[in-house]
Amino acid sequence: MMSAGVIGWPIAHSKSPLIHRFWLTKLGIDGDYGRFAVAPERLGDAVRALQALGLRGVNVTVPHKVAVMAHLNRIDPLAATVGAVNTVVVEDGALAGYNTDGVGFMEPLQSLPKDDLGFIGMAVIIGAGGAARAIATVMRNSGFDIDIYNRDLRKAEALAATLAPIAFAHQFPDRPDPNGEQIVLGTDIGREVKAYVLVNTTSLGMIGQPPLNLDFDLIHPDSIAYDIVYQPLETQFLRDARARGLRTIDGLAMLIGQAAAAFALFFGAPAPREHDAELRALLTYKPL
Ligand code: ATR
Repeated sequence: MMSAGVIGWPIAHSKSPLIHRFWLTKLGIDGDYGRFAVAPERLGDAVRALQALGLRGVNVTVPHKVAVMAHLNRIDPLAATVGAVNTVVVEDGALAGYNTDGVGFMEPLQSLPKDDLGFIGMAVIIGAGGAARAIATVMRNSGFDIDIYNRDLRKAEALAATLAPIAFAHQFPDRPDPNGEQIVLGTDIGREVKAYVLVNTTSLGMIGQPPLNLDFDLIHPDSIAYDIVYQPLETQFLRDARARGLRTIDGLAMLIGQAAAAFALFFGAPAPREHDAELRALLTYKPL
């Protein structure tokens, strides 16, 4: 029996057990994937117990992604650059830390025609928190130039500095409209008449949060709008983008992509992605 799990605090709403169990069943692997509520002060104890419990590893979620690094034997270079670990794997008796968030994020972009991305080559990232850091790092590694917009400009500047010389920081919103609702991204974007991958990494648009209202007037229609929020799946940001003719990528793409990379690390087999449509239906199922 091969088992893994996810640790967080709180953890009740994690979708990871559903995803990993779905793939284990499809592959007929004798394994399981659990959900463990780990209080911050017990993080070290929990991670050190993985081996004794016979677990292959765990995914790590809020608020442990940075703190867990202090308890590991080695850290993968990408996770070290990002400064956060979302996957801990027991390897030859040692604890190794990985970050699969960025790989999961890039997956749907990499399946676009090469010419498209070559043409775009520029990212607008909204937010400068943990998710933004993982995403900005892999986008930089994939050759994108990056504009980072954040409410707290100093955080955007700090993130841009780690990605120099290809990233620039901007205040967000830079120019609120008179009603204080619509957000206009840098006017320099409009002048350049160029396409972008626009990424929302903030919690704006999530259930219970205000929407992300962008003014798409200045955005080139060949741009791609990518929201990492997946509750709800159809956010105002994606609806507005689609209404302007932009291509959109929703938050389940990254959720499933990061899980697939972790699954391969835990169970030594590629996730059976031919079942993505069924998995998406399960993840969005709402009981009547
Ligand atoms: P995560 O790990 O999901 O990235 P985080 O590190 O807490 O979470 O980052 C949350 C991001 O959402 C930040 O960029 C935050 O902006 P600040 O750095 O200015 O706090 C952004 N965010 C959250 N609520 C926001 C709001 N109401 N308006 C604008 N930005 C918001």
